Amino acid sequence: MKKNSDIYDPEFVSGIFDRMSKTYGLANLIISFGFTSRWRRQCLNDLPEVKHNSIGYDLMSGMGESWGNIQTKLTEPGQIIAVDISDEMNRKASEHLKRLRTKNIVLKKTNILDNDIPDNSADFVISTFGIKTFNKDQQRKLAYEIRRILKPKGSFALIEISKPKHYLLRWFYMFYLKILIPIIGRIFMGNRDDYRMLGTYCSEFGNCMHFHTCLLDLGVKSSYKNYFWGCASGVFGTK
Ligand SMILES: C[S@@+](CC[C@H](N)C(=O)[O-])C[C@H]1O[C@@H](n2cnc3c(N)ncnc32)[C@H](O)[C@@H]1O
Repeated sequence: MKKNSDIYDPEFVSGIFDRMSKTYGLANLIISFGFTSRWRRQCLNDLPEVKHNSIGYDLMSGMGESWGNIQTKLTEPGQIIAVDISDEMNRKASEHLKRLRTKNIVLKKTNILDNDIPDNSADFVISTFGIKTFNKDQQRKLAYEIRRILKPKGSFALIEISKPKHYLLRWFYMFYLKILIPIIGRIFMGNRDDYRMLGTYCSEFGNCMHFHTCLLDLGVKSSYKNYFWGCASGVFGTK
């Protein structure tokens, strides 16, 4: 098992998602009882209005789980640039893309903490369930990158699984994440260790409050929100 400081090494993280890519879609469905798709939708409903021809980034895009929700807000020449570090998640995303009729999504394989995305180039930035694998310093860097990438008045919305405040709910939720999910991961996905990491990342992450503070420190107008009594939390606002 890796030391806690190493679990945030981008290569280590991308290795986890390379392996999890085989089962991530199914796992999302089974493990979350449909909550993740509901939370994605709620998060993107909180995205301050974007124009139909906007160009924006879906950060830590995975296999494109959020595209359906964001596409309803766009028409061509509007565009989504989907950013992910994992080769295998990108490969699955490109298969997903082939099945879609739209041509207004492009994939960009990159580490968001070390990227060449131009300054002030995005009308919007979204990210669903992509923050927990960043430690506090990396979250500060992510906030900086989002501010740099967004055009003035550009909007953003991000959401992440979080530790609820209420003692009982937190106990059940963490038992579920740390004990049951690895068991489900082993039985159904043949991958206990990577699914166990989910619980570790969530537990270390807490919620989006630190990230929210980082955005505010940078002068970004950010609002913080809890979803389902804090089982997920998010930020949204404008630059
Ligand atoms: C839990 S998945 C979320 C996928 C998708 N957005 C969703 O809603 O299900 C997190 C994704 O973040 C990507 N990721 C993690 N660290 C990254 C980084 N430093 N730069 C870009 N992508 C990263 C992983 O490869 C993975 O695909």
